[in-house]
Amino acid sequence: MKKSILWFQKMKKQKKQITWITAYDYPFAQTAERAGIDMILVGDSGGMVQLGYKSTNPVTMDEMIILAKSVTRGANNTFVVGDMPQGSYEISKELAVSNALRFIKEANCDAVKLEGGERVYDKVKAIVDAGIPVIGHLGLTPQSATTFGGYKVQGKTIDSIKSILRDAESLKKAGAWAILLEAMPTKAGEIIEKSIDIPIYGIGAGSAVNGQLIIMHDLMGFYQSFRPWFAKCYIPDVVDEFHKYISAIKDPKEIGRSERADGLLIMAEMGIKKYIEEVKSNKFPSEEYCYPITEEELNTINIWLKDENYYYRF
Ligand code: KIV
Repeated sequence: MKKSILWFQKMKKQKKQITWITAYDYPFAQTAERAGIDMILVGDSGGMVQLGYKSTNPVTMDEMIILAKSVTRGANNTFVVGDMPQGSYEISKELAVSNALRFIKEANCDAVKLEGGERVYDKVKAIVDAGIPVIGHLGLTPQSATTFGGYKVQGKTIDSIKSILRDAESLKKAGAWAILLEAMPTKAGEIIEKSIDIPIYGIGAGSAVNGQLIIMHDLMGFYQSFRPWFAKCYIPDVVDEFHKYISAIKDPKEIGRSERADGLLIMAEMGIKKYIEEVKSNKFPSEEYCYPITEEELNTINIWLKDENYYYRF
């Protein structure tokens, strides 16, 4: 059954991890749903990993709608989030609302995600006021990476954490129901999670948040140009399982003909199931997939936290 926003909120209260993956097409959306994923993001990363652009910036709203339509056709029973591409929401509230509506009406998505905090407050509020659920995206925000001097880890200093907190508060005030944090040390994710009373998810933001997002092509090892080191490819973990499964079948050709259960999608499903299992049991992300922080930085942050009583905010 499709998960609801209420369910995601309940999971935060119960301190249970939720699982989130990107998908850009029909077969992998079907596979993610079959594996039991909680939520799918039709990310603008699809511009790179699926359409072959050099960054996420060139992908257009029309292209995102085609990707999103194929995903919702494949994952009818999964909560699907459409990612608003660069240029689809910054110019005006009207443009932001009309493009967010396209994800809902044309592509059958359940919510939209967009990058930025205080600077997009009025756009987020306008979309929420139009009745569309919004997820904010803070930390490393690829659409504006050039402004930050490239793809840089965020949240390593008090100033950076304070600025993410201000943005997160602003998003919550605008009505966002959840926030995704990208590329920051575990401590930064933990501070935001404890300070902001809505679900906080992470991609490369450590293990102290309420759930994890992974890029499908990173999990599958499908994209050769780049893989952030916080992303884990799960295929090596399931090769033996796939081998056992296929060896136990008397005639794999027969099962291929009758059930089409002999190929890559079976292995993909095993990989996604393994990811789900590791997130739900707090095994992923382990230390090696989290951004490090120096002892000095951590001490300074801890002293500041004590002074500001951040952990007692709700
Ligand atoms: O487009 C996407 O997949 C994203 C993630 C990188 C967070 O926005």
